[in-house]
Amino acid sequence: MEKIDTIFFKNSDIDIKKAGEIISKGGIVAFPTETVYGLGADGLNGEAVEKIFLAKGRPSDNPLILHISNFKDVEKIAEDIDENARKLMKAFWPGPLTLILKAREIVPRKTTGGLSSVGVRMPNCDIALDLIKYAKTPIAAPSANLSGRPSPTEASHVIEDMDGKIDGIIDGGSCQVGIESTIVSTIGNDIVILRPGGISKEEIDLVLGFESQFDKSLLKRRGDLEEDFAPMAPGMKYRHYAPKAEMIIFLGEEEKVSKAIDEKTKTLEKQGKKVAIMDYRNKRLDDISRDFFRDLRNFDSQGIEVILARAIEGKGLGFSIMNRMIKSAGYNIVDLTDEKVKDE
Ligand code: TXA
Ligand code: MG
Repeated sequence: MEKIDTIFFKNSDIDIKKAGEIISKGGIVAFPTETVYGLGADGLNGEAVEKIFLAKGRPSDNPLILHISNFKDVEKIAEDIDENARKLMKAFWPGPLTLILKAREIVPRKTTGGLSSVGVRMPNCDIALDLIKYAKTPIAAPSANLSGRPSPTEASHVIEDMDGKIDGIIDGGSCQVGIESTIVSTIGNDIVILRPGGISKEEIDLVLGFESQFDKSLLKRRGDLEEDFAPMAPGMKYRHYAPKAEMIIFLGEEEKVSKAIDEKTKTLEKQGKKVAIMDYRNKRLDDISRDFFRDLRNFDSQGIEVILARAIEGKGLGFSIMNRMIKSAGYNIVDLTDEKVKDE
């Protein structure tokens, strides 16, 4: 691919405006959101969207989320929006919630990966909202990492993956939430969580007044998903968030895990391997979520060869973090629990 001179934009009104103009002319610019950095293009321009897929090395059947800056705009890109969808928008927008809605004709199939539905979200980040206003169009944006790598939560992560491949990047410091939005489908009879993220199932259920469902593929602990567990969000089937290091997750009672990690560390170090331990026992869930992808990238830049990670409790935001951890490790789990999970 031809090398582009990537422009570095600051968090200033003039710079955000320039970046918005690049997007409205069909270019691609990375920008911060409250979840992770996105790589944005005019979501209604198929040719511009194509550039995102090329820069990321992303499979073309993996759809992009459209980012909007005000409630009116959802009506321009989606139709048949039901009461539940409206309740969720009202409660969580702007914020880390993506709704899967029926797409209007105006949305190119390039953006939706050929689907008749479209993911829509209003980010809770002033830079992102201003950029969308200046671009005067919904911005299609996946996470701004190379396909398969950990999502970027700082401008330096985007530069690592995308310098020379994109038209610009806006540096807005570090992302507060640190993992991607929760994706919820309200098409059909059930409310289904396709990807757990910055908003927990518990918070969603409270707003709905009844229980949403997790997409079945999310409840599996193994990578070899059978046919009937094919995820509803196409992107969830690809290898994801992977550090360069090998990663192993230890699951089970605290003492047993400590012992197993100790032993494994000794064995690996004897083999001359550079080992790091990921242990979040004394950290709040929102701090773990904020730091998780950054920690993975830091281990890589320290030349770590094996990451031994202690699983965290899969409740609330913890379920979303465990989803990322399991995928980062490529489903490499040492299960020390006495009772095996029922569906395995
Ligand atoms: O927090 C986020 O959502 C970030 C920031 C930049 O907004 N974006 C993000 O985009 O994570 P991406 O492309 O990395 O992940 C989007 C996920 C993929 O798994 C994709 O398959 C799914 O959303 N998706 C998008 N549109 C869909 C649709 N119409 N139906 C089902 N899944 C969809
Ligand atoms: Mg992504």
